Order: sequence, then structure tokens, then C-alpha cells
Amino acid sequence: MGKRLKKCIKAPTVSFTAPVLLVSQRQASAYPPNSFEQAHFILFCHLHILSSLVISLNKTSTTASSKTIVLITGANQGIGLEIAKKFATENPTYHVLMSSRSLAKCEAAIASLPSGLSLEPIELDVTSDSSISKAVTAVQEEYGRLDVLINNAGISENTLPEDLTFRQRYTQIIDTNTISAACVTDAFIPLMRKSPEPRIILVSLGLSSIGNTLDPKFPYYGYDGPEYKASKPAMNMVMAIYAVKYKDEPIKFNACCPGLRATGLSGGKGNHPSVGAIIVCRLATAGEDGGSGTYTDKDGTFPW
Ligand SMILES: NC(=O)c1ccc[n+]([C@@H]2O[C@H](COP(=O)([O-])OP(=O)(O)OC[C@H]3O[C@@H](n4cnc5c(N)ncnc54)[C@H](OP(=O)(O)O)[C@@H]3O)[C@@H](O)[C@H]2O)c1
Repeated sequence: MGKRLKKCIKAPTVSFTAPVLLVSQRQASAYPPNSFEQAHFILFCHLHILSSLVISLNKTSTTASSKTIVLITGANQGIGLEIAKKFATENPTYHVLMSSRSLAKCEAAIASLPSGLSLEPIELDVTSDSSISKAVTAVQEEYGRLDVLINNAGISENTLPEDLTFRQRYTQIIDTNTISAACVTDAFIPLMRKSPEPRIILVSLGLSSIGNTLDPKFPYYGYDGPEYKASKPAMNMVMAIYAVKYKDEPIKFNACCPGLRATGLSGGKGNHPSVGAIIVCRLATAGEDGGSGTYTDKDGTFPW
């Protein structure tokens, strides 16, 4: 993945125009240069190449580091793809790292979006520590910091093979939705603390509110899907722990529900996933007065 990110940064271009011109002038001269002139000329060439490199490298780092760097997990489809699209189309000063466990899927997703957006594919399987570590290293090397992290990748019983046991479903769903979101968050925190306004969003689920689950008046009272529903209250707790731990720093942690959206994970129920991206982008772009440690959807706050 590091290699992939490196490829995306334009290699510095060096202009040899002035030295070449000098060489041709010298070749035309009837008087061969003495050794002092030769040394002077070589020094001039080196200085020219060096200054061209410095100018070009400065241009490269201006493009990259002057933008707000956003990383979204599971961005190749569904709500993650819509979050990436919304960030990149509405905020030209944002550079979006669209991560996916499959680089090919991510590149296909980018190809499906309008051209000219500041998007970059990056491989990240949230369940793999080595994949997380490679992603952190690549972002560190290319940008030196991360401004926004969206923990969006997730699975439900709808996206798992049908022949799994109850224990296997619980284990896989909690591993991806909860433990992996915690691992990704923890691994990127050092890079995020280098950002002036770091924002970490955990994409949660309103159905996972324990208060709502126990409330007979809740419209989804008795709704099934225990493994998936049980995975997100623990994710909310991960968010709350970090919000308290870093309460005296600019870094903000929030959990939110994108609402029921028609994706593979919801079994195709709900409306367009682009609607789910609204609350995520709102929280991720909130200013200093935006809260930390919240659990909301577009209509307000959930009981825990
Ligand atoms: N849709 C809803 O109604 C709804 C409601 C509330 C909350 N949410 C939450 O919204 C988030 C996005 O879900 P969605 O509805 O957009 O589902 P989706 O269309 O199925 O997308 C899920 C994304 O997560 C990725 N993913 C799964 N396992 C991964 C792993 N190990 N490493 C990296 N990426 C992985 C998937 O990649 P692959 O393509 O490789 O599988 C896919 O890109 C989830 O956290 C979900 O819980 C959704």
C-alpha cells in the first residue's frame, strides 16, 4: 500500500534547460574552458539541479499537506463510498484516502466517481494488524498526519455466509465492527494528534441503543439481528473511552447512525446510502465547538 501511495505522488521533475543551454554555448566557443571554468560550470549545474528539486518537492508537499487528509475504512461501496464522494465533491480542500481490503475494488470505486476529485486508493483490511500497520506507515510517510478518520467498515448477518454457527457469526461481526474499529482508531491516534483539528467518527447503529432496545414504544422494538446489534454498543464504548481520555486535547470522537440505507449490509432495505453520509460528514467537519463523546443521528441524540 505504501508503494501505491508513493505512486500517487508525482515524482519531482527537474529542469535541465539552463545547463543544457550553457553546454551548447560552450561547444560553440572557439576557446576551450580552463579547469577553474569547468569546476565553476559543474558547481552551477549541481546547484541548478538541487534548486529545481527543492522547488518541485515544495510543490508536491503543498498539494498533499495543505489539504485536510481524510481516511475512510470500507469506502469501496455503500455508505463509505458516499461519504468519500460527499467529502471530495463538497470540500475541494479535502484529500480523501478511500480504503478497502481490496485495492482493485477501491480503484473501481474511484473510477465510478466523477474525475478530477482528490481521491486516493489505499489498502486496509481492518481485521489485520499488519494491514493496519502498513496503512499507518504509508500515511505517516506521505502526509505526516491524519486529520479525519471515519471508521465505517462493517459487516452484518446479511453479508456473512449462511452456514456459519451462532458463535462464528458473533465472533466475526464483533471482530470487524468493534475490535477492528478500536484497533484502527488506536493505531492512527498518534498521527491524528499531529493534526490541528482531528476528528474520529465511528459509524454506529441506532438500533444498538440499549435504551431503545428495551423501550416497547421504539419503532424497531423486537427487531432481530442480535450479533450485529450487540457489536455496536461496544463500539460506542470504545468511542466514549477515547473521548474521555483525550478530553483536554483538540481531538474529537463521535459515534453516529447513518440510518437505514439500501446497501448489502442492510439487505437492500432503506433509502439511498448518500443520505447516510450526511451525519458523518457533518460531525467530521464540525468546528472546535462541535461535541465529543456523542451518539447521534441526523435527528438528534440516542439514549445509550
Ligand atoms: N446500511 C444501513 O442501513 C446501516 C445502518 C446503520 C449503520 N450502518 C453502518 O454503516 C457502515 C457501512 O455499512 P454499509 O451499509 O455501507 O454496508 P456495505 O455496503 O456492506 O459496506 C461495508 C463496507 O465495509 C467493508 N468491509 C467489511 N469488512 C472489512 C474489512 N475486514 N476490512 C475493510 N473493509 C471491510 C466492505 O468491504 P467489501 O466490499 O470488501 O466487503 C464494504 O466496503 C457499517 O459500519 C454499518 O454498520 C449501516
